[in-house]
Amino acid sequence: MPFPAGQTPDVQPSALTANFDFTPLSPPPEAVDLLLLDTAAAWWENGHPREDVLILDDRTGALTLPILDSLITEAGTPGAACATVEEAVTAVRVLADELGAERALGGNARRAELPAPVPAELPSLDEPAPAAFTGVHTVLMHLPRSLETLTDWAWLIREHAAPDVVVLAVGRDKHMNHSMNQVLEKNFTDVSAGRGRSKSRVLTARGPRADVPRSAPRKNTHTVTIPGAPATELTLCSLGATYGGTKLDPGTRLMLEAVEAHPGFPGAEYLIDFGSGNGTVSAFLALRHPQLKVIATDHSASAVQSTQLTAEANGVADRIETVRDDALSRFEDGSAELILLNPPFHQGNAVDPGAAHRLIRAAARVLAPGGRIYSVWNSHLKHRSVLSKEVGITEQLARDARFTVTVSTKR
Ligand SMILES: C[S@@+](CC[C@H](N)C(=O)[O-])C[C@H]1O[C@@H](n2cnc3c(N)ncnc32)[C@H](O)[C@@H]1O
Repeated sequence: MPFPAGQTPDVQPSALTANFDFTPLSPPPEAVDLLLLDTAAAWWENGHPREDVLILDDRTGALTLPILDSLITEAGTPGAACATVEEAVTAVRVLADELGAERALGGNARRAELPAPVPAELPSLDEPAPAAFTGVHTVLMHLPRSLETLTDWAWLIREHAAPDVVVLAVGRDKHMNHSMNQVLEKNFTDVSAGRGRSKSRVLTARGPRADVPRSAPRKNTHTVTIPGAPATELTLCSLGATYGGTKLDPGTRLMLEAVEAHPGFPGAEYLIDFGSGNGTVSAFLALRHPQLKVIATDHSASAVQSTQLTAEANGVADRIETVRDDALSRFEDGSAELILLNPPFHQGNAVDPGAAHRLIRAAARVLAPGGRIYSVWNSHLKHRSVLSKEVGITEQLARDARFTVTVSTKR
């Protein structure tokens, strides 16, 4: 360990950021990326092992590619961390929850003319030695928005990384809070905040604690009452970055009430739960309709695992298939009769109706003529006109103080 507990290296602009040509990368790196890279470089320059680096949720490749480039450039030279280029490529491990981040890394690697590391899979709950985490010496990540995500990442690192692991988690000052330190302190004996630069700072965690109980998957049972029908007990499970954790989203609840009251629902052999999150829609409708099959799809690896766990917890896993996919890219045009969608309203930290519009267009492509999409959205959004334009006639089924539920029929 080059630094005793409580001490961290002095961070200066480093060769890692100075020598890498960021110009081919789209979007360009942010100040947080450069600070994180310079912090990692300071550890490595002070003797911390350079191989076996894990980069979590790198949304663009701005973290992965400079590290990969420096390992490749030095490979085979005296004192280099890696003997060959092949070794350098596997010395950097990447794991991203959202499929879009994996694709962005691949695209930017091509533009920077570097080999893209093969993204690791989110480990299943009972995996004894997950490939991404086992034996890593350095972890780089942005502090995630949700504490549940940080909790799950921190636990996996603590459980599987090398004993000398250094976890470097960067955030913008305005998005950081003391609960993040507390989550890290539950898993590591030594947690410290670095000096600020560009209104950002790095939290450093070291010293994995022994025997920390795992809090994933989280589970919660809800009673869902649909007017005129017996109550349904629904257990929701969630891991990591899953939208809403184990909550039953109030918009989704209104959509489920509305679809159940809609004459002719489901009227199809199977439905697509588009953006399945914790699996509320899939499991509830599979419980209510014993013949119905569901394909649940989400771009988030934790959402897909959560949907699978929710399906198992409710005894309906035999009728729910889960698929990790971005915006139905793996579904044929005109192949589906029935889609349910509660679209996202955020892209990262920003409110962005464009993300929902993209999913509506994807659903319109995959619906067969006469097929229906049931959708729920915050009433102030303008999704109705997009549904009418992209899909076809759109009818309002329910509305409360916050949400609107519609059904659109593919023309
Ligand atoms: C508002 S949440 C709804 C989750 C769940 N259906 C519910 O009702 O609680 C939207 C979901 O869409 C997923 N999502 C966002 N963009 C996506 C994309 N491009 N492809 C697939 N799923 C996406 C998110 O990961 C999230 O789980």
